[in-house]
Amino acid sequence: MDSRPIGIFDSGIGGLTVCKAINKLLPGENLIYFGDTARFPYGTRSAETLIRYARQITSYLLSRNVKMIVIACNTSSAAALPTLQQENTIPIIGVINAGARAACKRVHNNVIGVIGTRATVNSKSYEKAIHAINPAITVIQQHATMLVSLIEEGWIEDDVTRLTIQRYLQHMIDQGVKTLILGCTHFPILKNTIHEVYPQLDLVDTGEEIAREVNDILTKKNLANNSSSGTIELYASDITDTMQNLKKLFFNGHDVPIEKLVIG
Ligand code: DGL
Repeated sequence: MDSRPIGIFDSGIGGLTVCKAINKLLPGENLIYFGDTARFPYGTRSAETLIRYARQITSYLLSRNVKMIVIACNTSSAAALPTLQQENTIPIIGVINAGARAACKRVHNNVIGVIGTRATVNSKSYEKAIHAINPAITVIQQHATMLVSLIEEGWIEDDVTRLTIQRYLQHMIDQGVKTLILGCTHFPILKNTIHEVYPQLDLVDTGEEIAREVNDILTKKNLANNSSSGTIELYASDITDTMQNLKKLFFNGHDVPIEKLVIG
């Protein structure tokens, strides 16, 4: 039994979808979540900057004696995961491999669609991760940057959002996509809205899959905490009204306290 916390980080509070999924599967684990809201969004930043941010956050989490780190941000996973893994000894995992694995298990017609930020799509990380599992799968990627802003605005069940979904996804549907990876932390919030527009889509939520991966690693390395109730500490580098409202969306209307913490 290892009661040290698990560190989770994201560019903002979208990664709370991952935090929630880990808490649901592993309620005994202590979690420390850091959302880099002051430097949000990551989706438009260069790989060099993303690696610098990820190193700063990792060093904070290590100072909190974490036993493992989960990069809940797709953009940061795409840019910084290999560097962080090389530089540290504790297990560090990112959402991309988890998402790719889940999608490959559920592939239809040998085609997988991916939506994410521009940085994630440009990195081709999902494509590489999927092809490492099965090179015969056709991967169709599309950035859906505007959806992040619409979610931040709270426009979830909204005609503008439905139209934007159509604008981004219709060409993927036309090319036979039935399995779609939600390759951005915010997108699980739009699951119902996407299903209203395209009921046939099988949506891959990377949060659920990475929670299973965390469980496997903790069990294999004998790092699990079998306490009855773990704690969740939430930190963000800036606290704004938009963020506070968005946070409620991730916690089904509950107001969970979040503390300001400036890193870097
Ligand atoms: N957290 C980011 C991701 O999963 C989305 C928002 C951003 O651009 O920072 O890619």
